[in-house]
Amino acid sequence: MLKNDRLLRALRRERLDRPPVWLMRQAGRYLPEYLRVRKQAGDFMSLCRTPELCCEVAMQPIERFNLDSAILFSDILTIPDAMGLGLSFAENHGPQFAKRIETVRDIESLPVIDPNDSLGYVMQAVQTTKAALSNTVPLIGFSGSPWTLATYMIEGGSSRTFSRSKSLIYSEPPAADKLLDLLADNVIAYLKAQVEAGADVLMVFDTWGGVLTRACYQRFSLAPMQKIVHAIAKSCPTVPVILFTKGGGAWLEDLVNTGCAGLGLDWTCDISSAVERVGDQVALQGNLDPGALYGTPERIEQETLQILKAYNNKPGHIFNLGHGIEPGVEPEKVKVAVDAVLSFRYN
Ligand code: CP3
Repeated sequence: MLKNDRLLRALRRERLDRPPVWLMRQAGRYLPEYLRVRKQAGDFMSLCRTPELCCEVAMQPIERFNLDSAILFSDILTIPDAMGLGLSFAENHGPQFAKRIETVRDIESLPVIDPNDSLGYVMQAVQTTKAALSNTVPLIGFSGSPWTLATYMIEGGSSRTFSRSKSLIYSEPPAADKLLDLLADNVIAYLKAQVEAGADVLMVFDTWGGVLTRACYQRFSLAPMQKIVHAIAKSCPTVPVILFTKGGGAWLEDLVNTGCAGLGLDWTCDISSAVERVGDQVALQGNLDPGALYGTPERIEQETLQILKAYNNKPGHIFNLGHGIEPGVEPEKVKVAVDAVLSFRYN
């Protein structure tokens, strides 16, 4: 039994005295203690491949801020790496793949992965972190969405235009379906293995779903996420799934129809309208602008309270940012937002 199961109760939309709080990218470069561990590891992927260090950095924000949940320390791009694409992170550069998906043949030759084998280091990180938490707060496991993973695999790294990915979906849609379906199967196996290793909640990061038209979103991003939600509901029925499509504010009803327990909202979404639209069907997670953390402490507190109040005393709110914390943010500013949530009480 978890000592603090506030996150799980919010995901069931139970009434609480205050919402749970955790933050996307709560472990990371804005923390000096993270930078020390990363230096010790040498580079980011070596850190990801060392379970004890993943555990240490996952615990850092819990110890510093008294958050209501931990999140596995890893990256979404471990799956394409395990599929043979060769991931690296050069210093101050985004992710880069040694190989990228260029032809239909490349798609056809991609493997189904056994996560306990090629991603065994992630499962060890889950086990080690779960043990270190000793049932104080839940542990969130995660994956990238099939569409978001596909964009990195097709572009070979980050992209501004997504030209290669768009080229595939508009010129060879059946091949795109095939790639996304294979990725959905690999994500399902990966998430199930994380649950077996100790994850209490699962989150799917669809960082790039918002670059699609609604029709393309439904076919290439939502449908594979729906497959994931169904598979988890079948094999791990007690584990809630949170879906987060950045830029997906117009499609909340579509996302709810997947049967997920929670929806992440980015900061462009008006949270009080979102509650009116779908708040009686799912929990909503969000959505302070990560950029607000560059403001004065007074302003950060004000913005935080505004989001808390916009929920209008309804159940099912999980306080978070609308996207990840950026590296330049001062940890003291993060504490201001977290403390405002910790001391807030519903009427
Ligand atoms: O604390 C946590 O949230 C858990 C760890 C976590 C990381 N990445 C660690 C990380 C999580 C959940 C992610 C998700 C992730 N990774 C996403 C989806 C969420 C989002 O932010 O939209 C995406 C798109 C990635 C891919 C990725 N990883 C990129 C584009 C980059 C480089 C740019 C950047 O932000 O640094 C990474 C590297 C990365 N992943 C870092 C961390 C802490 C920084 C690595 C470093 O120490 O230099």
